[in-house]
Amino acid sequence: MNYDKELEQIDLQGNIPADETRRQYYFIKKCRSLLEKKENELGRKLTASAVTFGCQMNARDSEKLIGILEKVGYSIVEGEDADFVIYNTCTVRENANLRVYGRLGVLNNKKKKNPHMMIALCGCMMQEPEVVEKIKKSYRFVNLIFGTHNIYKFAELLAAAMESDRMVIDIWKDTDKIVENLPVERKYPFKSGVNIMFGCNNFCSYCIVPYVRGRERSRTPVEIIREIERLVDDGVVEVMLLGQNVNSYGKNLEDPISFAQLLREVEKIEGLKRIRFMTSHPKDLSDELIEVMAGSEKICRHMHLPLQSGSSRILKIMNRRYTKEQYLELVEKLRRAIPDISLTTDIIVGFPGETEEDFQETLDVVRKAHYDSAFTFIYSKRTGTPAASMDNQVPEDVVKDRFDRLLKEVQDISKEMAGRLTGQVQPVLVEEVNSQDNTLMTGRLSNNLLVHFPGDASLIGKIVNVRLSQCKGFYYIGEIKDSEV
Ligand code: SAH
Ligand code: SF4
Ligand code: F3S
Repeated sequence: MNYDKELEQIDLQGNIPADETRRQYYFIKKCRSLLEKKENELGRKLTASAVTFGCQMNARDSEKLIGILEKVGYSIVEGEDADFVIYNTCTVRENANLRVYGRLGVLNNKKKKNPHMMIALCGCMMQEPEVVEKIKKSYRFVNLIFGTHNIYKFAELLAAAMESDRMVIDIWKDTDKIVENLPVERKYPFKSGVNIMFGCNNFCSYCIVPYVRGRERSRTPVEIIREIERLVDDGVVEVMLLGQNVNSYGKNLEDPISFAQLLREVEKIEGLKRIRFMTSHPKDLSDELIEVMAGSEKICRHMHLPLQSGSSRILKIMNRRYTKEQYLELVEKLRRAIPDISLTTDIIVGFPGETEEDFQETLDVVRKAHYDSAFTFIYSKRTGTPAASMDNQVPEDVVKDRFDRLLKEVQDISKEMAGRLTGQVQPVLVEEVNSQDNTLMTGRLSNNLLVHFPGDASLIGKIVNVRLSQCKGFYYIGEIKDSEV
């Protein structure tokens, strides 16, 4: 869809279109005229910014928010010194939550200095009724609040907030709707996240995501392929397929299709060079997926496979629906089929009732699976989840001690794993000028590790062959072998 043409055709004097996508274009145009009016009054351009907390899904959602803000006519800036600031929030752990409250205080001070400033909040945290109550009570300077299910209505809600001096709040409990073809502004010209599904049906007993993101919904393969083709036409060479559990993609579509089959279709897209995906739930990882990965030219040699705990007993209470043995068997299968695969994971320590023996089982899996890296989290109690009301919560000092021991183990192993490719020549997608030294470029290997090498900005977005001369723990220093791959 040509966004600008679509906008041109809209008549603000006419009826509001019934089709949801066109309806939102109508409101983008309406916001544009409201913004122009305000800019004329103030005699300056107005700026907008979206600040993202949380996961890749939120990062992608923020690109959609920015796409709309840009079409409305705001100059897009980074950070919080803007006339319109939206926080796209996360609530997966309590500290994600606390960070937002802390930064809201800072925004309030900025708003006192710039009375034209508008502040909006959206994302997962806003799906929690207690959060909205707290903001209504203690953060009255916020102009607009909406949740995850109605993010496609951003333009409409923005128009309402621009015309109102009261806080505009619109939170939905759930949705079965997926609205396609709204504007989106990518952070990187050469790579992009692509949602293949929304929501989660797994209800791991510690996790709040199913409550704030709603039931699992897959996009149709046709829409996904069409989006990727358009991205490739626009210069994208790498896509990251996004879902809370990509391995259950397509199961509820009218014409069911597996994630592995979707990957086969994506692989066929000409001009697309790399495919990544996130996240794989071990319980649904099929042999077909391993086979497709092993035979693929484009799927990157990386699998993020959250373990959460190595104890089968805890895994059962977590409702993860696999055992330690099944998990290790999967790792084995993956390594056998794709020997150079890099494995990463998420681990939680201190889940209610976790004993030292359970924790030792986690360490055992860490040693056996040889992760390239692992995100380690201290269990955080999330109101409304089954684990929050379990009565055997682990004392803080015990958790902290386990966390430190786990971190050390994980770091020792990832150092050892990272050096594996030293001396090899590997294709690298050049992503940016190195932030510390501008004579170096930073690129990403298929296995997701970074390499820094001498080069210039003209290489950004290209895939070049780089010799990995030296491993520095979690990244490489290298030199270009040839710049056309
Ligand atoms: N859908 C993904 C995970 C999304 S949340 C999956 O199932 O793998 C990202 C990570 O946050 C999870 O893998 C888990 O390790 C961590 N996490 C989720 N809820 C948590 C909680 N209550 N406390 C601590 N860590 C949590
Ligand atoms: Fe949370 Fe489990 Fe769903 Fe992942 S699969 S988002 S951990 S409930
Ligand atoms: Fe956070 Fe929501 Fe993602 S809770 S981790 S932003 S799905």
